[in-house]
Amino acid sequence: MPLHEHSEGWTITAEQSVTYEVRVHPRILDVPQPSAVMDDGRLPPRRLAVVDAQVWALYGDRIDAWLARFDAPYRVLTVTAGETRKTRASVDEIQRMAIDMGLSRRDELVGIGGGFTIDLVGLAASELRCGTPYTLIPTTVVGLVDASVGPKRVINQLGRKNLLGTYHPARLIVLDTTFLGTLDARGLAAGLAEVKKVGEMVDPGLVNLLDRHGADLITSAFTHPASTEVVQRAVRSHLEHFAEDLRERELRRWPSYGHTVSPALEMETRGAVLHGEAVNICSLLSSVLAARRGHVDAEYPTRMARLSRRLRLPLHHELLHEPAFLEQALGGVILTRGGQQHWPVPSTDPLGHAFIEDATPGELVAASEHLRALARELT
Ligand SMILES: NC(=O)c1ccc[n+]([C@@H]2O[C@H](COP(=O)([O-])OP(=O)(O)OC[C@H]3O[C@@H](n4cnc5c(N)ncnc54)[C@H](O)[C@@H]3O)[C@@H](O)[C@H]2O)c1
Repeated sequence: MPLHEHSEGWTITAEQSVTYEVRVHPRILDVPQPSAVMDDGRLPPRRLAVVDAQVWALYGDRIDAWLARFDAPYRVLTVTAGETRKTRASVDEIQRMAIDMGLSRRDELVGIGGGFTIDLVGLAASELRCGTPYTLIPTTVVGLVDASVGPKRVINQLGRKNLLGTYHPARLIVLDTTFLGTLDARGLAAGLAEVKKVGEMVDPGLVNLLDRHGADLITSAFTHPASTEVVQRAVRSHLEHFAEDLRERELRRWPSYGHTVSPALEMETRGAVLHGEAVNICSLLSSVLAARRGHVDAEYPTRMARLSRRLRLPLHHELLHEPAFLEQALGGVILTRGGQQHWPVPSTDPLGHAFIEDATPGELVAASEHLRALARELT
């Protein structure tokens, strides 16, 4: 019973069901009648399109023509990506324009860009009139395989990465890999770190695919035939996880692999180390921890470091040798994980992963040394 009256007052037990769509659609900008894909027969709402500035520079004419084909009023706001701008002020700017154009809860925001744009648009929408719908067209690998398909929308605050946020998934996410054709090799590689994360945690076949075709995915900007399977497998594993636990009630989560010291690394370097690069460095550090504790064989970190090299990903960062940095990095993430380390590591057990709860400063320093030596050996 949702409402229970008792001697001391009332107890409410309510459930919220959430449905959202992830659709694969090649060349979404070329669709003659976009409302047929985006609006499911509803009256076309008004839209505020929030577009990554670089994407607007490359695709602005086509995006503008696409928006015009909805036959409904729209406005466009461009946002310049960067960790130092993933802030309250950037969310405010989106909300100001939405309010200025009189957007109601039957209208919507649409985000077109990478993880940066996705986080800003989703958080702005979640707060706007206590919840306005939004749709997403991710344009980076991180955006496609990870950020857009999940429910979490976060911004940085007080120098801490992703400190403020909410769970408010997009109504519809359209995956169109043709946008990846204009990403540079570094951006493509950074995205593959999130794919490698999925492979190491829950889908060993994905690691094999990256071993065989990862380099081709970068040189072909995801037009290589393996692209479809790689994207689908990474998206499906993420969705399987979210479908089980949309609001991350379980704080021991495999998608946090590579996200233990990486948030502090991104913030400390003010975004000079890209999100995916930081994730890869932290994944490798985690794999060394795992090997030293016997969760995986001793050669596992070397195999992953070799794969990282092929994927043009960095193996190490000197900040990992500063005890104060490691302590602060771990301290921040422990609070997000409810007071525990819940540090995901690869494992040979049937789940494919395990969690470390008692990593010590000395162990981290030793693991960093091990990783630095490995990185030197492979250069
Ligand atoms: N909320 C989540 O679940 C979640 C998950 C993963 C990552 N993230 C967040 O996502 C952010 C990283 O996302 P990202 O890696 O997509 O980076 P990004 O959004 O910062 O984009 C990276 C760069 O690529 C450019 N760009 C975007 N699309 C392009 C295209 N098609 N062609 C050419 N250039 C293009 C952007 O202008 C930017 O310079 C981080 O802030 C991270 O915290 C969030």
